[in-house]
Amino acid sequence: MFTGLVLFAYLLSHFLNHALGNVSAEALQAGVMWHMEIWQFLPVAILFYGSVTVHAGLGLWALFQRRQFRWRTIEPLQLVLGLSVPLLIYSHVIALRLSNVMYGIDKLYPQVLYNYFVAAPSWRVWLMVLVMLVAWTHGCIGLYIWLRIKPLARRAMPWLLALAVLIPTLALLGFYQGGRDVIRHASAPGWQDDNMSVKQLGTIAQQSTLDRIGDAFVIGYLGLIGLALIARAARGLNERRGGMIRLTYGTDRTIRVPKGLTVLEASLRHNIPHASVCGGRARCSTCRIRVIGDPSELPAPSSREAFVLDSIGAGDDPSIRLACQLRPTHDLAFMPIFPPRNVAAARQAARAMKVGEERYLVSMFVDLRGSTKMAETRLPFDTVFIVNRFLAAVSRAVIACGGQPNQFVGDGVLALFGLADTPREACRNAIRAASAIAAAVEDLNSFIGHDLDEPIRFGIGVHGGEVILGEIGYRDHMVFTALGDSVNVAARLQDMTKALGCETLLSDELRATAGLDADALPTQQVEIRGRVEPMLVCPIAQSRDLAAALDRSELMLA
Ligand code: FES
Repeated sequence: MFTGLVLFAYLLSHFLNHALGNVSAEALQAGVMWHMEIWQFLPVAILFYGSVTVHAGLGLWALFQRRQFRWRTIEPLQLVLGLSVPLLIYSHVIALRLSNVMYGIDKLYPQVLYNYFVAAPSWRVWLMVLVMLVAWTHGCIGLYIWLRIKPLARRAMPWLLALAVLIPTLALLGFYQGGRDVIRHASAPGWQDDNMSVKQLGTIAQQSTLDRIGDAFVIGYLGLIGLALIARAARGLNERRGGMIRLTYGTDRTIRVPKGLTVLEASLRHNIPHASVCGGRARCSTCRIRVIGDPSELPAPSSREAFVLDSIGAGDDPSIRLACQLRPTHDLAFMPIFPPRNVAAARQAARAMKVGEERYLVSMFVDLRGSTKMAETRLPFDTVFIVNRFLAAVSRAVIACGGQPNQFVGDGVLALFGLADTPREACRNAIRAASAIAAAVEDLNSFIGHDLDEPIRFGIGVHGGEVILGEIGYRDHMVFTALGDSVNVAARLQDMTKALGCETLLSDELRATAGLDADALPTQQVEIRGRVEPMLVCPIAQSRDLAAALDRSELMLA
């Protein structure tokens, strides 16, 4: 990150210098003097060339070290762009810097622009444009990946994006204006004498030595890339011979992968969603997992992993590890602590609806029971872990039954059904989801029950009716949701499950809309706060029974 920032600072300074070409040739020339003053000052030059070497080395190392390239597009793109910069820029660097160091040749803007816009074939100009865009894009992606996890920077993103577009645009325009200026003056008497001397261009012999150095650089650099790829292939063969291990994701699934992959790489290889905001760079800790069973067989955390775990207060718990750093050597069972982000997908689905539209929806509130007591007797970290597992189990069940987890409030979820279904389907889906939630929580209890003083319990309230869809909140904190009396009633029904001693409380109206017979479920009348009339509801002691009631009604219909 540090070396990347140094290189980005150089690029920024160089681009701002180019942008002065929009003012005048003199401004361009004055700018380059400042630029050189700064970057050729010995300590800065050592820092800069050291950063170039380390950064390029890290790029080659990443090419070797990453087992899995099925990252989101932005990450392989950044690596490819970064690795291509040396090949695109080497001739420019040799012509300007190395020629100065070896032979004292003084090439500045007039000589460089003359070469690009007058002497060389026109594709050289486009090559320069390409290298500017490639280097800038690579730098911006690196900055974006670094800054996107910093709350302050996230707020500044629109401004940073504007700068990321504006600066190279001005630089390219300045470069073009400088070129036009040279084309205009190149044929003027005396210009060639002033700007094309041997001191400024070097001799033919010097140029051919520089060309040979350039060729050697290309061969050497491509050789290093080839070596990295050969080393990857050899390591892959070796790892396959080393055997496979099984990774078990909680109660969900088990995969087999060769030894040597990180847990995150294994997830990516098998298309298993896994939170990883920093892209596996051990910066964000969102990929962390809780190892189930004895963690003593695992390789010890690297210093980088230990540092991140310490910084989140998990340094003393050997069962918490970073999935992007842990390379298990034996079978491993674990649970990701953070659910993968599906917020974007949910928002996209929600956006398909017309905001402000009034329509029938089923609202379901699901609440974890006893979380306050749990928080009193457990470490905060453990409580967060259990609540997240519960919310993940509920969300999966809701999604599997055609619903959408819409909001998470503390240890509870508001789920919506019917965003793309008829009222009858929405009601039936919600009833089936209540049963699926019970099954998922039962699985969760059998999986982490030994860690709990008492099994996880829950309450569900479900009601359907007309709601208004809309985005509520403030500025970037807007949430798509449903507003209306039926949502409030569902929340109150969920509250009442405690008093009535049941797991799920459905409104009888919802039962009827779902097409279940009046005697399919038990009923009773209750007073609902804020409603004049009492309401007929169906208290369900065991939510799993709801699936059977639905199946019976389907059989009768058939
Ligand atoms: S993905 Fe960010 S720390 Fe592992």
